[in-house]
Amino acid sequence: MKCLQLPSIHFMPLINVHSTWLENYAFGYDLIHAFRPKTVVELGVFWGGSFFVFCQAVKACGSETICHAVDTWEGDSQAGKLEEETFQAFQKHRETHFADISNVKRMRFEQALDSFADGSIDLLHIDGFHTYEAVKNDYETWLPKVSNGGIILFHDVKVINQEQNFGVKRFWEELKNEKLHFEMNNQFGLGVLYNGSELPPDNEFLQTIFKGSAEELEELDQYYLLIKERLISRAFVQMYYRAEEQVKYLTHRVVDLESKIKNKEWNKNNSL
Ligand SMILES: C[S@@+](CC[C@H](N)C(=O)[O-])C[C@H]1O[C@@H](n2cnc3c(N)ncnc32)[C@H](O)[C@@H]1O
Repeated sequence: MKCLQLPSIHFMPLINVHSTWLENYAFGYDLIHAFRPKTVVELGVFWGGSFFVFCQAVKACGSETICHAVDTWEGDSQAGKLEEETFQAFQKHRETHFADISNVKRMRFEQALDSFADGSIDLLHIDGFHTYEAVKNDYETWLPKVSNGGIILFHDVKVINQEQNFGVKRFWEELKNEKLHFEMNNQFGLGVLYNGSELPPDNEFLQTIFKGSAEELEELDQYYLLIKERLISRAFVQMYYRAEEQVKYLTHRVVDLESKIKNKEWNKNNSL
């Protein structure tokens, strides 16, 4: 597989939101292009970092996919509490760009289970609460919903955080050898599990990630590392320009207010 020919070489996110998933954006984009799932379910959406990458990829590759976002949008003790404005911003972006290919379930994960038939989810992303018990429970309750030949993603499989009681790493280490798997070798880690025994023989991307040689996987690693750096630099540049715009706007406001105060004082002095 030629990494420089992967779709992510041209990928730029439509929106930059706060998300530690950024280092997986390019991989998520390529996975949708190669796998073309019919049904994507994300458990844990937050500001929409990973979700909007899936949606953007669906639009770009023209696959017949519906992406379902499941979250209370209340946040949790690990990700932090969310204000209502997060959900409003998420909805605004989703409705503007992805209304026809996406769906929202604002509820707890267990309440959404009945909305999906057994074996109907092709790509399941588990990124909710990150304790060992919560991830195990999400996996076990949602596994029957995943299709034969489906893929399950686990975020944060490399995180060691005892203070916040993270347990995805432990669960992933126990689980991964039961099935074909791949791991994004970056800061937080993304576990990719294949829910089947036979990979599509002509799918070069899936063949590489799940069965590639050490050399091929090393090349992929290096590629995603470079693309990640590019996406991070771009996000910083965008933040810089946004901050510059904000400074310009505030400077105008200050000048405006100063002149209003001066006028008021002048009027006061001259009316005496
Ligand atoms: C780590 S964030 C998701 C990050 C996101 N995937 C991204 O790309 O940035 C976890 C989210 O899961 C949600 N969450 C955690 N446990 C949940 C549960 N049992 N039901 C519904 N939402 C839950 C929280 O509200 C939070 O928004």
